[in-house]
Amino acid sequence: MKPYLLGLLMITFTSQVIASKPLVIAHRGAPGYLPEHTLESVTLAYALGADFIEQDLVVTKDLKLIVLHDIHLETVTNVEQVFPSRKREDGRYYALDFTLTELKTLNVHERQDAKGNQVFPNRYQGKGTFQIATFEEQIELIQQLNRQLNKNTGFYPEIKSPAWHKEQGVDISQLVMSVLRKHQLDDPNKAIYVQCFDFAETQRLRNDLNAKVKLIQLIAENDWLESPTDYDVLKTQAGLKAIAKVAQGVGPWIPQLVDLKTMQPTAFVEQAHIAGLKVHPYTFRKDALPENINTQQTLQLLFKGLKVDGLFTDFTDTVVNYLAEERIAH
Ligand code: G3P
Ligand code: CA
Repeated sequence: MKPYLLGLLMITFTSQVIASKPLVIAHRGAPGYLPEHTLESVTLAYALGADFIEQDLVVTKDLKLIVLHDIHLETVTNVEQVFPSRKREDGRYYALDFTLTELKTLNVHERQDAKGNQVFPNRYQGKGTFQIATFEEQIELIQQLNRQLNKNTGFYPEIKSPAWHKEQGVDISQLVMSVLRKHQLDDPNKAIYVQCFDFAETQRLRNDLNAKVKLIQLIAENDWLESPTDYDVLKTQAGLKAIAKVAQGVGPWIPQLVDLKTMQPTAFVEQAHIAGLKVHPYTFRKDALPENINTQQTLQLLFKGLKVDGLFTDFTDTVVNYLAEERIAH
């Protein structure tokens, strides 16, 4: 192990039990075990003890919100077999070109790469049938489990690609706010955060659409072309202060918090905390860690070293168990 990592771990190992309660955010349900964003995956994430369960949201042809990571369908469904003629000129199959009824005929499978290979080969290998879920189906599922089990597991929807949806003539944020208000979820005191990569849209949600719900500004890298936002500007102290005017926290990529080669922390978490922002990084995957650090070391670094306020994870149980074993309030 690199000496500075050892030093950091030794310092943090002896620190006091952390007073705040870091959140375990089930990233796309429980994709470490079952296909992402399906109701089965959400149910498992709930049972494994997630504090919040994430819903990536895109829009259908008939303006329904579905829970899907991409605006395209072919990486996680059999759309190419069921609707072979429905691709656009770029060869992609867009959720926005299909009605909800059509989308419900698709089977959701494990995420595949461009060659059709499973991205995480050791994850779910069965041939079960799984459907795309709507946002409202996930809301109902989680609310019903909360009612019966007397729990308060929260929602963590992400508004996906608002600029692209707008180009296509669809105001996804208006649709999301409408569903949240229908279910009394546009409320800063409820267990829900709304996240978006597009800073102009986060500002619009708060200032123009009068969103009351807690907001999280996601932070990407500019070369991902995730949105029109300049993340190099957003990561500065001035940028973080601008975020704090409209949002309660930030969702950075883990390598923005720590150099994974040297294990030296960046100033990001400290500066975000100074700006009054919660920090919920993405994504902890125990089956995709850098070679020089294991699960225990990674979680130690994030929770005890960097003192993040929450963590997106494909493996809810691993993070829940870590927090319990380390007696970090949870
Ligand atoms: O929303 C947090 C995290 O999920 C962002 O990454 O690409 O998995 O949506 P992505
Ligand atoms: Ca997401």
